[in-house]
Amino acid sequence: MNFLKGIHYRSRIFYDALDLLKLGRKRFFRFQIAAQHIKPGESVIDVCAGCGALKDFILRDCAYTAVEASPEFSLTLKQKGIECISCDLHRGWPESIPTADVIVMVISLCQFRDTSAERLLESFKKAAKRVVIVEEVLKKPRLKGSWFQKLINYLCATDFYVPVDSWYTGSEFEKLMQNHGYQCEKTSGRYRVGSYGFNPGQDKVS
Ligand SMILES: C[S@@+](CC[C@H](N)C(=O)[O-])C[C@H]1O[C@@H](n2cnc3c(N)ncnc32)[C@H](O)[C@@H]1O
Repeated sequence: MNFLKGIHYRSRIFYDALDLLKLGRKRFFRFQIAAQHIKPGESVIDVCAGCGALKDFILRDCAYTAVEASPEFSLTLKQKGIECISCDLHRGWPESIPTADVIVMVISLCQFRDTSAERLLESFKKAAKRVVIVEEVLKKPRLKGSWFQKLINYLCATDFYVPVDSWYTGSEFEKLMQNHGYQCEKTSGRYRVGSYGFNPGQDKVS
C-alpha cells in the first residue's frame, strides 16, 4: 500500500483517473471558468498547474507558463514543451518569477491555507495585472479527523505537501478574498472564483 502514498502528485495517470472518476464530463469545467478570464495574446502563469491541462482551454497565441512543485508533473510539462518553473510555494512566491498579464490558480489555494495562502494572494497582485483563483469549496468544513480528508492527505503526501484539515467553505473563501481586495463570484457548480484587477462585467472573454 505504501506506493499509494503521494501518488496523486506523482502519477499523471492516477491524477487524471481520479479526476475522471470524481467529475466525469464536468472535469473540464474549472478550466473553462479560468479560460473565460484570459484575453487573446496575454501571458499567463498557471500556478500549481498539474500537467498543464488549462493550456488546452486558452487561446493559442497566449504565452503559457506553469509553476509546479511535483518533479513528475514538471517533467510531463517539459515533455509537452511547456515552460515550467519548479518551486515549493509553501515558502512564498519566488521574486525571480517574471511578471505576467494574468495569474491563474485552479483548485489549489486550500493547500496553502495553513502556510502561505495569504502571502501568495498579495504576491499575485504584484506579479500580474489580473489574478483568477478558481477554488472548489465545501458547504461546511470537514470534521477534524475526517477519513476522506485523511485519505486525500495520504494520496498527496509528498515532501512539498502540507496536510490540511479541510478545504475552504464558500464563506471562508469569500472572506479570504474580501480581506485581500479580490472580487468573489459563485459559479453554478462546486466552484467559487476570486478575481483581482478585472473591471466587473467587462473583462470576461466569453
Ligand atoms: C489539486 S492539484 C491542481 C492541479 C491543476 N490546477 C488542476 O486543476 O487539475 C494541485 C497541484 O498543486 C501542486 N502543488 C502541491 N503542493 C505544491 C507546492 N508546495 N508548491 C507548488 N505546487 C504544489 C501539485 O503538484 C498539483 O499539481
